[in-house]
Amino acid sequence: MYKIISGKDVSQAVKCRVADEIKALKDEGIEACLAVILVGDDPASRVYVNNKKKACEFCGIRSLEYVLPAETKQEELIELIEKLNADKSVNGILCQLPLPKHLDEKAVLNLIKPEKDVDAFHPENVGHIMIGDFNFLPCTPAGIMEMLRYENISLDGKNCVVIGRSNIVGKPMAMLMLKENATVTICHSRTQNLKEIVSGADVIVAAVGRPNFVTADMVKDGAVIIDVGINRMEDGKLCGDVDFEACKEKASYITPVPGGVGPMTIATLMQNTVTATKIQNSKE
Ligand code: GUN
Repeated sequence: MYKIISGKDVSQAVKCRVADEIKALKDEGIEACLAVILVGDDPASRVYVNNKKKACEFCGIRSLEYVLPAETKQEELIELIEKLNADKSVNGILCQLPLPKHLDEKAVLNLIKPEKDVDAFHPENVGHIMIGDFNFLPCTPAGIMEMLRYENISLDGKNCVVIGRSNIVGKPMAMLMLKENATVTICHSRTQNLKEIVSGADVIVAAVGRPNFVTADMVKDGAVIIDVGINRMEDGKLCGDVDFEACKEKASYITPVPGGVGPMTIATLMQNTVTATKIQNSKE
């Protein structure tokens, strides 16, 4: 019998905790502020940015939104980030990815001040995560860890398989699981014996960006399945990287799409904004 881990419920609990922390800061005259930059008109990015704004409203965080045209020049984006870096009333800066192809993503991410880097994408913050001594954790992997904690799922000594090696999800996910004493394997597009590796996993994190990539024959009985994929199908419906209907029968826990990992990413962003605000006001 499987249990669905509801990202809606867990993220609500996190956001309520954040709202309490924000209220306590307000009582001391401190207002938290998150600036979100969106370049271009990618519909999925627009949805994410709108959801971030709604979460800020719920938590009592002031949100600033900068929507720039797709043809924005690198210098213009740099100028905006430098302005936000210097603005003491702005605690967190997030530049929604992917950026249009002509922009240098790496240069942009490296420019955001590490103490305002609520995505934890700056190399300085990535380095802190590597050595297990960090202020911010990347939003999606940290959201997944929160879901596992909420369900009292221990990773100690477990075989965890992460499918996908992105800087945003796969690599930091592996680091966080390792910190919890898991034995971690990262699989990717060149992995040769994928089915064999995944079928030995106690915990599977699927972050490949391919609909129904993880099939029931790859899943060990009783595995915990975390689906990071958000794939838009031709009929407009969202579909994860996991064949949910078939895999759920073998799982002990499984996350749905939508309503699984997605809301957790945003809840962690709220948490990171509080952390940034506290650090900048010497409260942490
Ligand atoms: N695009 C997809 N996921 C993310 C994220 O976590 N942060 C940012 N900035 N862009 C994204």
